[in-house]
Amino acid sequence: MEKIILTGDRPTGKLHLGHYVGSLKRRVELQNSGQFDEIFVMIADAQALTDNADNPEKVRQNVIEVALDYLSVGLDPEKTTIFIQSQVPELAELAFYYMNLVTVSRVQRNPTVKTEIKMRNFEQSIPVGFFCYPVSQASDITAFKATTVPVGEDQAPMIELTREIVNRFNNIYGPTLVEPEILLPDNAACMRLPGTDGKAKMSKSLGNCIYLSDTTKEVKKKVNSMYTDPEHLTIDSPGHLEGNCPFIYLDALSRPEHFAKYLPDYPDLQALKDHYTRGGLGDGTVKKLLFNVLEEELAPIRERRSHYEQNIPAVYDILREGSEKARAAAAQTLDEVRAAMRINYFDDPSLIADQAARYKSK
Ligand code: TRP
Repeated sequence: MEKIILTGDRPTGKLHLGHYVGSLKRRVELQNSGQFDEIFVMIADAQALTDNADNPEKVRQNVIEVALDYLSVGLDPEKTTIFIQSQVPELAELAFYYMNLVTVSRVQRNPTVKTEIKMRNFEQSIPVGFFCYPVSQASDITAFKATTVPVGEDQAPMIELTREIVNRFNNIYGPTLVEPEILLPDNAACMRLPGTDGKAKMSKSLGNCIYLSDTTKEVKKKVNSMYTDPEHLTIDSPGHLEGNCPFIYLDALSRPEHFAKYLPDYPDLQALKDHYTRGGLGDGTVKKLLFNVLEEELAPIRERRSHYEQNIPAVYDILREGSEKARAAAAQTLDEVRAAMRINYFDDPSLIADQAARYKSK
């Protein structure tokens, strides 16, 4: 069986370091591993509209931001099909059919949807489209016959629902769809990178993000004001690692080579942690290391970004070509789905002949 990846992001803001360690970096590695037959990365504008219906301009502006973020981290349009969800109308069609295979109570139990409903104050009135987005996400994945969906932990309930829909569909209509598997980050710090203020997650509204498009100066400022250990008042006092942002970021990003290069007194991160918890190591040293590690990662991203920023029409060409290619792939699956669902009236010659014969013999 072919190995196919599908994943994506809602274009509601620029992508940040949490997106990078949680999924973008892995996508580039998967892309370059040569282990996949196809890789589709989707800018989920239609999904973004499910809770931004009154703000289409925000979604429109962020489509290009996210595209620039993708290209600047190293997604290569020669190897990865980057496309815009709304430009593949087959996805909406498929979602409409899947809605018959899912109950309201099943979606209501989705923990990610539950949290989002609270966050958006949708408790009183949820837009139907928003409520249905997990079902539409199942169509995003299955329209491409994806086998592998690299995403963060919060997306696990969507993949689970997708697998249920696939099984239900194949049971009723015959084997047609492929059951996907989730691919989670392999490092706990990457799974849930906190904001620079120590809060659970980077989020635009909390103003605690390091963006992939931040300048060196912005990164330095954000690292220097990062939340560490409020009880670590003097260099000599023992420090705590729990919830200590610079250490969590280093868990996500540092490698032993970084120590040889920037802090040769320590063989690795564990040695640095040991010194910190013993006492005698200041936050400044840790932050300086983190800044260097971040810059090593972000400088090439920034460089590629500025190249594409000078070539915006070419970026739209990449999106257009990607969307055409994605549409052709989804259309192929939809042909199979319609045939399985017995709604392929005009490309099934036996249907017309059989009906004609039935009426003739009456
Ligand atoms: N829900 C994802 C997010 O919040 C975006 C998304 C839409 C997605 N469709 C998808 C991710 C399909 C993986 C697979 O960013």
